[in-house]
Amino acid sequence: MNAKELRKMYLDFFKEKGHAVIPSASLMPENDPTVLFTSAGMHPLVPYLLGEPHPEGTRLASCQKCVRTTDIDEVGDTTHLTFFEMLGNWSLNDYWKKEAISWSYEFLTSKKYLGFDPEKLWVTVFAGDDDAERDEESAEVWKSLGIPEERIYYLGKKDNWWGPAGSTGPCGPDTEMFIEVDEIPRCSDGCRPGCSCGHFVEVWNDVFMYYNKQEDGKYVKMERRNIDTGMGVERTLAMLQGVQTVFDTDLFLPLIDKIKEMAGIENPDAHQTRLIRVVADHVKSAVMIMADDRKVSPSNVEAGYIVRRLIRKAIHSADILGIEKGFMKNLADIVIQMYGDVYDEVERNKDFIHQNLELEENKFRKTLRKALNKLHRILNETGSITGADAFLLFTSFGLPVEMTREIAIENGIQVDMKEFQRQFEEHREKSRTATQGKFKGGLADHSEEITKLHTATHLLQAALRKVLGDSVTQNGSNITKERLRFDFTFDRKLTPEEVKAVEDIVNEVIQANLEVKREFMPYEDAINSGALAFFKENYGDTVSVYAVGDFSRELCGGPHVERTGILGKFKIAKQKKIGAGIMRIRAVLE
Ligand code: ALA
Repeated sequence: MNAKELRKMYLDFFKEKGHAVIPSASLMPENDPTVLFTSAGMHPLVPYLLGEPHPEGTRLASCQKCVRTTDIDEVGDTTHLTFFEMLGNWSLNDYWKKEAISWSYEFLTSKKYLGFDPEKLWVTVFAGDDDAERDEESAEVWKSLGIPEERIYYLGKKDNWWGPAGSTGPCGPDTEMFIEVDEIPRCSDGCRPGCSCGHFVEVWNDVFMYYNKQEDGKYVKMERRNIDTGMGVERTLAMLQGVQTVFDTDLFLPLIDKIKEMAGIENPDAHQTRLIRVVADHVKSAVMIMADDRKVSPSNVEAGYIVRRLIRKAIHSADILGIEKGFMKNLADIVIQMYGDVYDEVERNKDFIHQNLELEENKFRKTLRKALNKLHRILNETGSITGADAFLLFTSFGLPVEMTREIAIENGIQVDMKEFQRQFEEHREKSRTATQGKFKGGLADHSEEITKLHTATHLLQAALRKVLGDSVTQNGSNITKERLRFDFTFDRKLTPEEVKAVEDIVNEVIQANLEVKREFMPYEDAINSGALAFFKENYGDTVSVYAVGDFSRELCGGPHVERTGILGKFKIAKQKKIGAGIMRIRAVLE
């Protein structure tokens, strides 16, 4: 079975069980400053897990593009990836454990579907602790399906608890499913599902999300009982295709083969194998992030920095493999071909991807030699690399600190990352860092401040269009408790008169205390009724529209205030050009 067949089989299966299939959301979470990337299928659904009605109903399924960068340095082993896809099904206070587990079992073991041998299926359930009860209910369902007690493990929070995706939000105990691989022997007597030796491969995770983790760290049981499940496409494919690693599946082989061909290596040794995987993974992730309609290009901050780091590490690894300059275009084309018919935006942003890859490669190559010379000179002269050296190599030569650290380690030297980080933070925009969880807010945060700023963002967009014309459209948005940030298509700063005009319009609408109304309707009707849509491909057939009187209509999941009157006074605090034809406004409510 190939990737295409697996995605289709999964989504069709859940469609048959009454689920609406929703499209993958963007890789860059909207309105969530706590994380840089969508890292699980549930992430875009957080507002609905917390109780917002979803326009497509209470049973959903999707194949979601995800990026996880926490394990970026592990890439090169047999399992870690930065970009991956996750199949998932959700119950929004609809079905519960019995149905979810039975369907997982049916899909995994039925000959009609994946057809794994039920004898090779092992599961884990939550053992219980001070925060939440032991999950006997799930264990009972597994037993009723024929899984004997010996193949059911009760484990603690470290293994059998999932979420929240940021620092707060929905989470809960889970039951994880593992397929036993006979070819890889158990590593020890204590080897059990969850062990990383490869004997047990996790294929699916059903999370019972009926807890909400609060800012004070407490887990509070919710009235709503939601289910969130996740099946990693790459890992499941490896199992289905009977291959040893995700790199041997059809989602990687064409890339791996091409890299080997370009390097002129037929039988790579262990070190080369690692480098080949790094190149494949990193180019794929960089392409998929840039394929997103949010148009993220390599830069020194946030998601752009991750893209830069991925590309530069890929170039450095390819250099060691002896691959010639300009190789990324070939690999990008393979990625575009691989995902073009799964995610429309990949094909649509092809030129943007190619241009940025070429630009970044040229930029990096110009300084790479100089950077490496400088690094080696520092090493020779002082025998160490301080945090300040690493910072200089980063700011003056564009050498990602992770590369500096790796080269240092190869020379038996540690870099003081804390000192580097201190200097880096100082240099970086104070109000924002890439550190997960550093900021409150995000989709799981329905605090009054965030909700008000969310409504103010709609008013700002409508006002900008009134003052600057209809060519203004949203390019990104990010809200913290303190301020809103809105990126839009426009090619210059607003004049003081324009700023005042926009502020006045927004403040008039606030004073008029207009009602904010929500409606569900088919996508086409919403667009025909004049509602603004951010990214077409991210919406399902039925959408949610928020209207502020007759002033603004936008496709949006909310939440919003009920009337504009409570917003206070709107003020534009700052504006900045952030790219070709893209402006950024920060605004506050006083
Ligand atoms: N959100 C769960 C996971 O990522 C399903 O494993």
